[in-house]
Amino acid sequence: MSVVAATQLQGKPVSDAIKARLTAEVASLPSKVGLAVILVGDNPASQAYVGMKNKACIEVGISSFEHRLPASTSQQELHDLITSLNHDDTVHGILLQLPLPGDLDEFALLTHISPAKDVDGFHPVNVGKLLAGLPTLKSCTPYGVMEMLRFYKIDPAGQHVVIVGRSNIVGKPLAAMLVQKEDGANATVTICHSRSKNLTDITKQADILIAAIGQPEFVTADMVREGAVVIDVGINRVDAPDTEKGYKLVGDVAFDTVSKKASAITPVPGGVGPMTIAMLLSNTVLAYKAINGL
Ligand code: GUN
Repeated sequence: MSVVAATQLQGKPVSDAIKARLTAEVASLPSKVGLAVILVGDNPASQAYVGMKNKACIEVGISSFEHRLPASTSQQELHDLITSLNHDDTVHGILLQLPLPGDLDEFALLTHISPAKDVDGFHPVNVGKLLAGLPTLKSCTPYGVMEMLRFYKIDPAGQHVVIVGRSNIVGKPLAAMLVQKEDGANATVTICHSRSKNLTDITKQADILIAAIGQPEFVTADMVREGAVVIDVGINRVDAPDTEKGYKLVGDVAFDTVSKKASAITPVPGGVGPMTIAMLLSNTVLAYKAINGL
């Protein structure tokens, strides 16, 4: 095992650089850029994320329209709200915070958001464009991972990137971005998941290992090749009774042991986390420009 600890890849310098660029760009646009965020119910993590998104909008000069609704809100009410936001000229991005409570139909609502305002990049039209290599609004967290790799000059071209996790939000779109025939991509990509056989045999082949499973400290040192780059997309709340909040945040990677073996690793919190919001703001400005033909 290496005695030299891995380089820590912090998200903040990358997200700060993106936000600084966006602040200047937003100030130069002919009218205000607007983002509508819909939060249904009282999931504490979602409330925290929506608060952070609102603060980040204000920071760069984007108007933030928050719609905080009770868990009792009906499918029809949400459908109607999205209809009105689709038609609202002051709104260029619409974000429906997930997960939705109860038996609300997530997919029906996400696909009702106009693809032109789908700043999460979740609409099948935008997912399809991503896969086809066409310019589009891309899912924020995987897009943020791509920007982090670029910032830290970790070129995935020709590298074996192993992604653990096949979600529609991270694993699948990230694989689509990494295999594109373009600068900053061109990787050889493997996706693993809960049904993959011999998982450790596969993860140990990774030049770049990306964990996006949503299970605290799932990736352990024995699963990582010496010198690999490890990107941890997980943000898990685990009980920590002796802390003030009563919980702490850990990633999908067992940081303390894996960081002794990897050449570079993203910490949690402070790694990929800040990138998701930076890319959301970037997508909102992109949507504004496309809607206004700029
Ligand atoms: N919940 C957790 N991550 C996300 C995200 O990126 N977008 C939305 N809309 N909800 C989320």
